[in-house]
Amino acid sequence: EKGGYDHFMLKEIYEQPNVIKDTYRGRLHANSGIVQMAGVEDNLEKFLHAQRILIVACGTSWHAGLVAEYIIEEFTRIPVEVEYASEFRYRNPIINPNDVVIAISQSGETADTLAAIKLAKEKGAFVFGVCNVVGSSISRETHAGAYTHAGPEIGVASTKAFTTQITVLTMIALRLAKAKGTLSNSDFYRYLQELEVIPEKVHEALESNEKAKEIAAKFKDAPNCLYLGRGYNFPVALEGALKLKEISYIHAEGYPAAEMKHGPIALIDEQMPVVVIAPKQGHYDKVVSNIQEIKSRSGKIIAVVTKGDVQVKELADHVIEIPETSDALSPLITTIPLQLLSYHIAVMRGCNVDQPRNLAKSVTVE
Ligand code: F6R
Repeated sequence: EKGGYDHFMLKEIYEQPNVIKDTYRGRLHANSGIVQMAGVEDNLEKFLHAQRILIVACGTSWHAGLVAEYIIEEFTRIPVEVEYASEFRYRNPIINPNDVVIAISQSGETADTLAAIKLAKEKGAFVFGVCNVVGSSISRETHAGAYTHAGPEIGVASTKAFTTQITVLTMIALRLAKAKGTLSNSDFYRYLQELEVIPEKVHEALESNEKAKEIAAKFKDAPNCLYLGRGYNFPVALEGALKLKEISYIHAEGYPAAEMKHGPIALIDEQMPVVVIAPKQGHYDKVVSNIQEIKSRSGKIIAVVTKGDVQVKELADHVIEIPETSDALSPLITTIPLQLLSYHIAVMRGCNVDQPRNLAKSVTVE
């Protein structure tokens, strides 16, 4: 049932090219400029009149929400806020009838997310679900939605759910951008085409497996680890850190790279591995100077770079190469080597990768 893989997590990491394709199949037609999902088409007016989009979710799904915030704002100019469902429901949030709430949940059963949805409905908002499990509580409780087609996710650590959530949310952003005219025609077509080839690039990114294993062997005994990224890759840094802590029990923190100097840089010494997401597109020069700051304090740098990179390679202790894509779509690629790195570290530490201690696949209690 693990399809020849040692763990469900690894199998699910490797399924990503296929499930991303399954998620956009029938919805994305790059050559004809069509991107459509029934749940969005049926409620297009509500989305187009939204004064604001509020995203509620927990854990990895919340990280997908953060990526979506950057994408939706950039493509559609609709203001987006992302909240932990657990915070949202307990703070008398301001919700207006023309807010659109998007709830993201792999299992569709997360208690806090479900409660946040009920609250938003009571306050008159239109609630749209992005779920993986068909017929789940959240998919039934929301007014409309679009499923991810990741298939069953058995490993407790979420991997393919994350990338398929980003796929659906990117398609929503593109659909709204088309209707609102907030992207130029050429950008719109370019993003559609780039999204269509993401599965091949994820496949290519999976070739970093051996390299990730090599790096894992070097850092498996580290007590701490930092993850840094900027822009679209800041949420990827958070997600990389979450993956490492939940399956390997190494303490890890994700930070926006520029926040380093406001505190966390004090942690850096020769013992501290720092994973830096540094693709060529987007804030590259800024990330390079962040890397220099870490290096001058003797931190050990593991960098995720675009194939053919020169500058970061000279500075970093270890590099993992990934194929190039546009900045906005890069989280779908940059997240892959980070999943592999956590996986190998956890295996080498003898951890129960698929069922980490203290964790449940769906958190139906608050
Ligand atoms: C992390 C993880 C959790 C879930 C969170 C939300 O790998 O699996 O953080 O992402 O519990 O779960 P769903 O998406 O089912 O609502």
